[in-house]
Amino acid sequence: MTNINALPPHKLARRLRGCLARLPGADQDALCVLFVLIFPELSGEQALKENPVEHHLFVTENVIRIAGAEQLNLRQEAAAGLLHDIAPVGKISKTQLKELKKTFDNETNPERKLQYERDLQLLDDLQYGFRTLHMRKGSAIANERLLEVNQALGRAAFDRHDVEQVCDLISIHDSPSILRAIPGDNRAAVCFREADRLWMVSEEGVLADLRREAAEVSEDAKLDRAKKNQIRYKEEKRDCYAGDPTCINDTFFRTQTGYEVYKGWCDFWGINP
Ligand SMILES: [Fe+2]
Ligand SMILES: [Fe+2]
Repeated sequence: MTNINALPPHKLARRLRGCLARLPGADQDALCVLFVLIFPELSGEQALKENPVEHHLFVTENVIRIAGAEQLNLRQEAAAGLLHDIAPVGKISKTQLKELKKTFDNETNPERKLQYERDLQLLDDLQYGFRTLHMRKGSAIANERLLEVNQALGRAAFDRHDVEQVCDLISIHDSPSILRAIPGDNRAAVCFREADRLWMVSEEGVLADLRREAAEVSEDAKLDRAKKNQIRYKEEKRDCYAGDPTCINDTFFRTQTGYEVYKGWCDFWGINP
């Protein structure tokens, strides 16, 4: 007898079906099989500490919108949407780093200052290390899962080019977090990054942040968090795309659709894009 808890709840399964509506039926089936296969991983304890399962569906939904407008391969983008965060390896947050930097800056005792400097270096290296591991390991696991889907279906639902492209996307999806820009001519990755980041200013993403921090959930707290997350957008633009003329209205968005969806969320919160 199948363990019902190992399967995605019907609401999530339906949400996935809904967002795949514009893909050919055979691709929809393959992506649903993929989702069923990876659901236990996406809903594991460590995975849920980083993202609720809705995150992967949100990214899939949005990347289909954004990449669809750019006539890109939606089977690949959707597979990457489901698989990109499959390796939850833990992360050092920018806030943790900023706080330690503040402590270091304010320290006057030379001995303690030296210790803080070493701690800062270590934390910085760990942040980089965890992010690169998250992408590399995620890419390798994705490779495995796509082959498993092919084997289960008895056909190359994801052919070698698909597998290559999905793994490539995952291997750089978080690069801007370690200050590496995503090149503008890699449209598949540009669209993917925008879809992944939109989560932060969406209502679901903001609620997930507040819940993870066990913070109070009120309208004020939500708005406050949305504004804070918007600052991270500005940092991504400043750190990776300063002076890039393809960025729309001084944001890191380089696709019209991504920018429109972002503007929609700004309207929702009543904040300026
Ligand atoms: Fe990620
Ligand atoms: Fe993500």
